[in-house]
Amino acid sequence: RGRLLTFHAEPKSMEDHGAYSYEEDGAVLIEDGVIAASGGFADVSARAAPGHETVDHRPHLILPGFIDAHAHFPQMQMIASYGAELLDWLNDYTFPEETEFRDLQHGRRIARLFLNELLRNGTTTVAAYCSVHKESAEAFFAEALGRRMCVVGGKVMMDRNAPEGLTDTPQSSYDDTKALIADWHGKGRLHYAVTPRFAITSSPEQLEMAGALMREFPDLHMQTHLSENHDEIAFTGELYPDAPDYTGIYERYGLLGPKALLGHCIHLSEREADALADTGSVAVFCPTSNLFLGSGLFDYQRYRKRTKSLRIATATDVGGGTSYSMLKTMDEGYKVIALNGEKLNPFASFWHITRGNAEALSLSDRIGTLDAGTDADLVVLDARATPAMALRMERAKGLAEELFVLQTLGDDRAVVETYVAGEALKSEL
Ligand code: GUN
Ligand code: FE
Repeated sequence: RGRLLTFHAEPKSMEDHGAYSYEEDGAVLIEDGVIAASGGFADVSARAAPGHETVDHRPHLILPGFIDAHAHFPQMQMIASYGAELLDWLNDYTFPEETEFRDLQHGRRIARLFLNELLRNGTTTVAAYCSVHKESAEAFFAEALGRRMCVVGGKVMMDRNAPEGLTDTPQSSYDDTKALIADWHGKGRLHYAVTPRFAITSSPEQLEMAGALMREFPDLHMQTHLSENHDEIAFTGELYPDAPDYTGIYERYGLLGPKALLGHCIHLSEREADALADTGSVAVFCPTSNLFLGSGLFDYQRYRKRTKSLRIATATDVGGGTSYSMLKTMDEGYKVIALNGEKLNPFASFWHITRGNAEALSLSDRIGTLDAGTDADLVVLDARATPAMALRMERAKGLAEELFVLQTLGDDRAVVETYVAGEALKSEL
């Protein structure tokens, strides 16, 4: 029981009240991990079986759990690494850290702590990169399965421009990916993503293998990085001299499509944006990472307003990103969009991290909503969680302002509880 907020469509403006439902005294009825009903408390409680337990979260807000569309679980111990842009940051900090994940026990420990951290922040679904090691994906999926979480993940494929101990080969990446799909995809709520890291660390032969996997398993996700940094783009051009542009490489190997998640997409040409739009591919906006690494400003307005508009997801990109919180992520996203002269309204912001990201991941039939029949992944938020937030809320008028205070001043402390498949998990941590 609490105040319910859920989105049906992307809010076009602050006044677009049809895009969401809000219940001042609402409830979500959960049976076997699934939402059996949601709406006004009186209606919903009338449908509950006698003796059904009621958890009273009033006066807090209940929303669908947050979704993070791009993060790297092996980067927890090098997040907040000082001083480098993307390629040096990868070579100096990221790659050495990821070599540790050859050890299954290490992977298990970090996977457990990673999912704990997401739950602490109200995130119930993540699309995660594992390391090159098959063991890291096994550790990640086993941890998610144990908590009944809906996650997307994949072993990174990378066969060049990386240190020894952190490369596979086209054939071994194909074989390992195929074995992981057989072992984990479709188990519980797990989804496998074919994950070539990016064009710099994959030979043409390896991207060919990634394309072959997508032809064999066309309903899988594909995740990679695209057009994040100028030096990265220049080096990619040298490695693939025949490609029309960076996007054209992934296009050529059959990696684009409605379940393709392209991290960053900061410096796209019009042709590249057209290629993403024509294939229904998703551009993933990672504001804290783009600011931290000095990569550039994602041109949200341009991508939304062009004739062929892009599908956009939002994500932390931990450990290039600097926060596990989707609230903090949208706080920084708001500022990036503001630098381009516009303001993202708070309803659109919360749509992005719930239903919007569920749609971007093609999972909105199961998550990102409070609709009956979907999985009971929920977050409970308190806009007065800290003294500074409580003081600000003394002046707040209305729901939009409350959401904006949560986004701008909130973090894990504003998350009262996180439910996964009906189980309260944050309070168990
Ligand atoms: N490009 C290739 N790998 C990575 C990574 O781990 N993080 C970021 N931000 N960009 C990448
Ligand atoms: Fe990334």
